[in-house]
Amino acid sequence: MSAKTFPTDLLPSAEKILKNYPARQAALLPILHLFQNRDGCIKDEVQEIVSEFLSVPLIKVREVLSFYTLYAQKPLGKRHFQFCRTLTCSLLGGESLGEYFGKKCGIKPGEVTPDGQFSYEMVECLGACEIAPMLRVDKKYVGPLDEAKVDHLIQEKLHG
Ligand code: FES
Repeated sequence: MSAKTFPTDLLPSAEKILKNYPARQAALLPILHLFQNRDGCIKDEVQEIVSEFLSVPLIKVREVLSFYTLYAQKPLGKRHFQFCRTLTCSLLGGESLGEYFGKKCGIKPGEVTPDGQFSYEMVECLGACEIAPMLRVDKKYVGPLDEAKVDHLIQEKLHG
């Protein structure tokens, strides 16, 4: 993929998305989803491509990527765990459970296990405070968590 060329395999989907929006810039999120779904993350070169394709300033693309936890800017593990660290979850041990997960897997937030299976990060409120402390993995919300449930999830995802 050259530095500023929109990939041909995603072009038909992108053109279809653009038809739904009056302005190209408004299609930023769904266009980013195309890359997230294909590559598992949105690398720097893709950020530049999307910026040029939609005529959106690069800084705007980066702001969106840093705001939304659904987008990753570097490769993640096959299973990516997002532990909520905001008030409700934090008061009920969310941050400690994230650290517990990291210790069990031998990684820090943002790192990937050597076998590529797991990664994790601490994120802000995922809007599921009623099941605090909670996490998101494989597009599912899981909670309330405790260490036993984290252990179970690790085993389940290892063999699932
Ligand atoms: S504070 Fe954790 S989901 Fe809202």
